[in-house]
Amino acid sequence: MPTAHTPAIETRILPADAAGITQAAATFAHGGLVAFPTETVYGLGADAANAAAIARLYQAKGRPAFNPLIVHVADIAAARRIGRFNATAERLATAFWPGPLTLVLPQSDGCAVADLATAGLDTVAIRVPAHPIAQALLAAFGGAVVAPSANISGHVSPTTAAHVAADLTGRIDLILDGGPVAVGVESTIVGCFDAPTLLRPGGVPSETIEAVLGRALARPAADTETSEQPLAPGMLASHYAPHAHVRLDASDVAPGEALLAFGPVTLPGASEAAAILNLSPAGDPAEAATHLFGYLRSLDAKGARSIAVMPIPNDGLGEAINDRLRRAAAPR
Ligand code: TXA
Ligand code: MG
Repeated sequence: MPTAHTPAIETRILPADAAGITQAAATFAHGGLVAFPTETVYGLGADAANAAAIARLYQAKGRPAFNPLIVHVADIAAARRIGRFNATAERLATAFWPGPLTLVLPQSDGCAVADLATAGLDTVAIRVPAHPIAQALLAAFGGAVVAPSANISGHVSPTTAAHVAADLTGRIDLILDGGPVAVGVESTIVGCFDAPTLLRPGGVPSETIEAVLGRALARPAADTETSEQPLAPGMLASHYAPHAHVRLDASDVAPGEALLAFGPVTLPGASEAAAILNLSPAGDPAEAATHLFGYLRSLDAKGARSIAVMPIPNDGLGEAINDRLRRAAAPR
């Protein structure tokens, strides 16, 4: 297993064509780790029923084992074998699957997901991804696949195969290159409890979910994010972190700072910025989401010590973008 004391393993990168998908499915069947595109971000997959493979996955990411994984399945029939659906889950699955929504449900009797993947909880997070390559891979493998984002734990999520390679080369078996992803932020996570609860804003705007449910989503109190046992245990305050310091809601650019812009750029100091990347010159949050993680990586790679971020409205995908930026800016 790849640790600080063992040699790196060889990581192959293959195009996500029929041969690549066959290789990837065979790698899962042998307990291997494969990064693959979903419509949200690239995931790092392993056979959800193989505890040894999942142990390797936690180690490859440097992920704390108390942070459970999302189980990816091809369709709602497969999801029903893993989780118990209530009325909320039925409605949301019908409206948004396949797509960027994850449902947290009680585990079904005989749920075949390894305990390590659910971190000992009696619930399980399930998602049916829409990306054609993810769908083809799940069909070829025939089983459920656990897949966290394919980055080193705590680092920025990957939206291209090159981002995955930068973080995980030498730690995983295979990367399927399916080009840049379409959404750019992770799935929205809803806990299908008595009061349906927004555990993580993401690729489906919370307003859209609330319209389907005909009620507001409950939101965990802000302090659960930093407590020992947060509701979505991965939602630790400092996450999605680039190396640079991140300064939110900037109304100016300080000397030497890089600027992550949104909409028209009229800030004092902007013309002297160390670098400027604009998430969406037209001010479109969906376009901004596709650029968010890649631009944080790029500004980091340019060596910026601090990144000033312009304010981004909180509607639509803006809620997920602002959530990720707050975590990127949190004290480490
Ligand atoms: O878009 C996505 O969701 C991507 C792609 C690859 O599917 N995956 C992803 O996984 O973002 P990850 O591991 O980076 O985030 C999973 C989140 C974590 O915050 C984790 O704590 C939460 O899901 N989670 C998993 N199982 C849970 C459960 N039973 N109850 C509450 N939260 C859970
Ligand atoms: Mg992640």
